[in-house]
Amino acid sequence: MSDRANQVISDILRRIHEAIVENDVTYEEYQAAKQWFIDVGEAGEWPLFGDVYIEHAVEEQAFGNRAGSQGTILGPFHLPDAPLLDAPFELPHRPDEPGDRTRVTGRVTDVDDNPLPNANLDIWQADASGAYSGFMPGPPDGNLRGQVRTDADGRYEYVTVIPGPYTIPLDGPTGRMTAAADWSPWRPAHIHLIVSAEGYEPLVTQLFIDTSDHLDNDVASAVKEELIVHPERADGGLAFTYDFALAPARTPAVA
Ligand code: BEZ
Ligand code: FE
Repeated sequence: MSDRANQVISDILRRIHEAIVENDVTYEEYQAAKQWFIDVGEAGEWPLFGDVYIEHAVEEQAFGNRAGSQGTILGPFHLPDAPLLDAPFELPHRPDEPGDRTRVTGRVTDVDDNPLPNANLDIWQADASGAYSGFMPGPPDGNLRGQVRTDADGRYEYVTVIPGPYTIPLDGPTGRMTAAADWSPWRPAHIHLIVSAEGYEPLVTQLFIDTSDHLDNDVASAVKEELIVHPERADGGLAFTYDFALAPARTPAVA
């Protein structure tokens, strides 16, 4: 075993052993926990469990000191290869897509405010009822998923609808554990983005809608004050602006 694996796994096990002693965990509770591990595996929920309860700590540890804009968790609902959009840059949606139509604009720069032309924004979000295409019944494949590029001045824009808040699945083992602990299962309304440009650290982030419920008790602990946006009435819909500053890539590209 490598020194690293030995160190990390020993530390995690030691903390579990300490929790067992401090909470006087019983054999019945241990057997229930073992059954729950089996249920999570059979339901295919280990990725969900990790992204809800663990990813935020890894993100903060990995990127807490990074220069530029704040990131937050990726979550389990990203799909690669969303279409690159042309003007008028509307995320693909149903003809009768429910929700408030919103124009999002902003710039992508380096940390010294120099514009980054041709930066890529990979965008995905739930619909107004909180459903993600490709994962939940309702929206068709590809709904509210797309990529846009910045222009020569580093500016981007796209049109979408305000997403709804949603709960993690309530009927699976992650939801049952959440209910057993009497925790809220809700995520506040948010739009996911991965902002990338050659030579810069990709920024995995989310923009949270200021009027959403559950901003202060996100089940995934992913809300950061700097990521809350404030849509305002404009041109018969809503609009908001958000600028992204990217930090230099950690490892120089190999020629
Ligand atoms: C999400 O952001 O979509 C998400 C994150 C963690 C768990 C479940 C969903
Ligand atoms: Fe999400």
